[in-house]
Amino acid sequence: MTDIKKYVNEQAEIISKRLNELLNENMSSVVLDAMKYSVSNGGKRIRPILTIEFSKACNGHLLSALDFGCAVEMIHTYSLIHDDLPCMDNDDMRRGKASCHIAFGEDNALLAGDALLTEAFGVLSSVRCIPDINIVRAVSYLASFAGINGMVGGQVLDLQFEKNKPTVDEVLKMYSLKTCCLIKAACVLGCLTSNEYDEKKISAAIDYAENLGIAFQIQDDILDIESDSITLGKPVGSDEKNDKSTVVKFYGLEKSKELVIEYTDKAILALKEFDCNAETLEKLAYMLVDRKN
Ligand code: IPE
Ligand code: IPE
Ligand code: MG
Ligand code: MG
Ligand code: MG
Repeated sequence: MTDIKKYVNEQAEIISKRLNELLNENMSSVVLDAMKYSVSNGGKRIRPILTIEFSKACNGHLLSALDFGCAVEMIHTYSLIHDDLPCMDNDDMRRGKASCHIAFGEDNALLAGDALLTEAFGVLSSVRCIPDINIVRAVSYLASFAGINGMVGGQVLDLQFEKNKPTVDEVLKMYSLKTCCLIKAACVLGCLTSNEYDEKKISAAIDYAENLGIAFQIQDDILDIESDSITLGKPVGSDEKNDKSTVVKFYGLEKSKELVIEYTDKAILALKEFDCNAETLEKLAYMLVDRKN
């Protein structure tokens, strides 16, 4: 387990460096500063690491995977900036620092999110070393996983469920959209860095991401109760404060911890479709079960 942690930290550094290069525009602007502030450091970079690992499992082009992963990380970061706004979860800390709107104001935070979303598609379309058709496919997958039928749709439900109380199946559907969809985009984009378009591998990647994402969100909800803000880098008790509907609220901590393991095991089963280079994906899934932030 120590080895995987070391590997993940090394990969995260490579990703952070590339994100910094991609956002190195000549113009100076308070919104660009806000984008860099929110993207830089503190994030675990799980999504771009998944992109790189699925690229490896499909014998893909790794530098393209790095940029595809950075594009997903930009969209993920925008989703966090907006998620923290007073009109959403109203949280004042993110990735161990003041949330974007606390540091730069709500207006600039809103625009930094918008600009990161747009920039992500610019990054995708600038990738040159894989077939053009796969760039088009990547744009299409990312757009649908990030949009109203994906992450944004999940955030809509998350907010609605503060007032209209859902069933546990509806909560799981909301997790699938708000959290699994961007993880799916990360995994599928990794597969798309290969010259081949293998539908079986893509659907296995989606299956892995769906189960890993549910485990990941349940763990996030557990940490919101059991962790502290220094370890977590974001406030604890946010779900209670906002009267969020979570799996933990339905099942309690003990059963929720069992579910994290069950979904992780299911994620790993999906990896049998990949004959080589998938061990890191297995280790990564297990590592996330024990994560503390
Ligand atoms: C937080 O995601 C939002 C959820 C979907 C639970 P991460 O836990 O991946 O956040 P960072 O990127 O490491 O900050
Ligand atoms: C996931 O849910 C949010 C996104 C899809 C951005 P949370 O609201 O629980 O995420 P955190 O706990 O603020 O990171
Ligand atoms: Mg939220
Ligand atoms: Mg939140
Ligand atoms: Mg949370």
